[in-house]
Amino acid sequence: MGLTERVRRLRHRAELLAAILVLLSIPVLWSLFHQTDPAAVRPVARPVTQARVLPQAPAAAQTPLDGTVEADREKPRAGGCDDPKILVDRAHALPADYAPDDLVSLPGLGVPILGQDALLRREAAGNLERLVASAAAAGEELTVASAYRSYTDQRASYARLVSIYGKGADKTSAPPGHSQHQLGTAVDFTNAAVGYQVRRSFGRTGTAQWLTLHAHEYGFVMAYPLGGETKTGYGWEPWHYRYVGTDNARRIRESKLGLQGFLLREGVLPRC
Ligand code: DAL
Ligand code: ZN
Repeated sequence: MGLTERVRRLRHRAELLAAILVLLSIPVLWSLFHQTDPAAVRPVARPVTQARVLPQAPAAAQTPLDGTVEADREKPRAGGCDDPKILVDRAHALPADYAPDDLVSLPGLGVPILGQDALLRREAAGNLERLVASAAAAGEELTVASAYRSYTDQRASYARLVSIYGKGADKTSAPPGHSQHQLGTAVDFTNAAVGYQVRRSFGRTGTAQWLTLHAHEYGFVMAYPLGGETKTGYGWEPWHYRYVGTDNARRIRESKLGLQGFLLREGVLPRC
């Protein structure tokens, strides 16, 4: 075989290998950019003013789920579950029967939502109303895909994800008792730019950029930032914001600790 023929065959093999690598990387890239939250549903915005009856649920397991977060924990004090600095993470759960007693309806405040109704604690809801109006004035649309979720709502949502992704569900969904949504202070945002889905491509929109710059002014912080998985136990969720009050949000931003680091340093443990 001549030198030219050998070079031709080598080049052919290299091209084959490159094609195989590209094919293998497609599912990985797809899951990175199209990961979808359990709350993804079609947009139906409709004002509802009636308070929802809160379901009761069985006792929650308080066992830490893994050692990742526990390892660098300083000792936060125990406190009430209504405290804005409550630490709810993979290692610390809310009791199954905890539900805030000041939930208000977001559509009643003019906040666009998906589905029939969405509830948030009163102070968080008022600040969310101002945040959404301010974003709209800047040309950015924000719709709430999910807000308060009871223990039983979260149990159903988590079970659905587990039935689809198996253990992989733990990267995007908290087991019942471990979700910030049970606090009534967490929201998942979406908008038309991402087809009213809850997905990572939201993080590349101008609206997400606006949130990065301004959410803290209304007391909201992104709970699960890009690259924070080893600290928070969850992958990047550019749609998930938690209300902690304007003072705490400003301090979190200035300290660069992130919500999880801040709560580990000075949060309160759920004892309620
Ligand atoms: N997606 C967040 C982690 C939750 O389920 O609360
Ligand atoms: Zn969320």
